[in-house]
Amino acid sequence: MKMEESKVRPYRQHIFLCVDSCCREKGSEGIFSALSEELKVRGLSNDVMISRCGCLDQCESGPMLIIYPEGTWYHNLKKEDVRRLVDEHLIKGNILPDLVYHRVSGIGGSSCN
Ligand code: FES
Repeated sequence: MKMEESKVRPYRQHIFLCVDSCCREKGSEGIFSALSEELKVRGLSNDVMISRCGCLDQCESGPMLIIYPEGTWYHNLKKEDVRRLVDEHLIKGNILPDLVYHRVSGIGGSSCN
């Protein structure tokens, strides 16, 4: 059986950035814009997909962002962290220990409700 050709571009990484209530109040839309711009400037727009997502159930630690396939969760992000995130994680493959919240699975959480 022949597989259909995928309509999804061959991204190497996919970023999910929470823009739900708590994270939005703490600036996640600005982070989304800064990250989108940085990906464009670095020529990574075809390699890294970024998507807004709903609450990740870790509101007290937001803005929250996850990068796959690594499964790395970053927290308390600020626009000022975007360039370093792109340089270190996306380009060099280095995790940013001071911003890591979780890796892979199994976290408990809090809610903004
Ligand atoms: S609103 Fe972002 S983790 Fe809950």
